[in-house]
Amino acid sequence: MNTLKTKNNYKIAIIPGDGIGREVMQATLDVLNTLDLNFEYVYGDAGDECLEKTGTALPQETLNIIKSSDACLFGAAGETAADVIVKIRQEMKMFANLRPVKAYPNTNSLYDNIDFMIVRENTEGMYIADEESYTDDGAIARRIITRNAEKRIIDYAFKYAKENNKTKVTGVHKANVLKKTDGLFREIFYEVANDYPDIATEDFYVDATAMYLITQPENFEVIVTTNLFGDILSDEGAGLVGGLGLIPSANIGEDAALFEPVHGSAPDIAGKGIANPIAMMLSAIMMLRYLGENQNADKFENAILKVLTDANILTSDLGGSATTSELTNEIINNL
Ligand code: NAI
Ligand code: MG
Repeated sequence: MNTLKTKNNYKIAIIPGDGIGREVMQATLDVLNTLDLNFEYVYGDAGDECLEKTGTALPQETLNIIKSSDACLFGAAGETAADVIVKIRQEMKMFANLRPVKAYPNTNSLYDNIDFMIVRENTEGMYIADEESYTDDGAIARRIITRNAEKRIIDYAFKYAKENNKTKVTGVHKANVLKKTDGLFREIFYEVANDYPDIATEDFYVDATAMYLITQPENFEVIVTTNLFGDILSDEGAGLVGGLGLIPSANIGEDAALFEPVHGSAPDIAGKGIANPIAMMLSAIMMLRYLGENQNADKFENAILKVLTDANILTSDLGGSATTSELTNEIINNL
């Protein structure tokens, strides 16, 4: 990821949102506050409660806070999620969606040795949702693939691989059927690959990839793909390693970055103090790495790894009976 290594004094936008978003955010800040960091937190309001209170789910002031920060931590919104998180991604031109797929011990992961990153194009493809017209017998949607946007995301994936000691990048498409759009994606993939001679490359069709993720997930290190395929493969990845409580993500733009768990506000358990904070914490760890705080990121991640390995103090989604704060305190003890 891009690193802003020279500064150590960062301004971080904190948007807890609704439901367990607030609970897992507080738990994550409790851990961050025990690390040796120079963070200034600026809180922004957004989500269902914000809508009730202020008449808008995403006030302009919150967007301004994100714009003037080095990075943003986002918890979860409720029913207003589309008006909040989707709008933030668009407004801030966050073109890359990063979803790590990593197996942790004592989880429902299908295999032990899974550790890859899905880099999804976030601005075009099928999700421009340009369903322009009905026909006599149905409807038509347009899919847009541009050289600029695909080059940017593919280059991002290779840069990520290089900076994180990955040896291979896999391009995923359906160029045998979508010869023009995905043909272009594949062409650009190999053009960009030329700039990274030390990194191995391969490309697969998306349907084959869906199968390989189940049969040989250890084969993957970095996957780069277009918007819709990335969305689908990301959720398959989440299923591979088991459990929404463990899946973080990042949204990256030229000069904005937002880190959030994949899960929502979980109204069924909100307010009970039993949410698993690890997905939010792993999102914060992605932020630490983005900011170049790699030592703190390693320390934090190892403390989480120890809790999962010991398996004494786990939340109920992981088969335990600990509360959010008991799990958080154990992670702090492990630091
Ligand atoms: P959800 O992710 O909130 O919950 C799905 C299931 O997983 C629930 O049973 C929940 O209890 C469980 N779960 C989720 N995160 C957990 C955690 N950290 N620890 C323990 N259990 C956890 O998805 P759902 O139920 O589809 O949506 C609930 C609300 O969240 C909706 O209003 C939806 O719009 C919103 N949402 C917001 C998102 C965002 O802000 N990025 C993403 C997904 C949903
Ligand atoms: Mg999705």
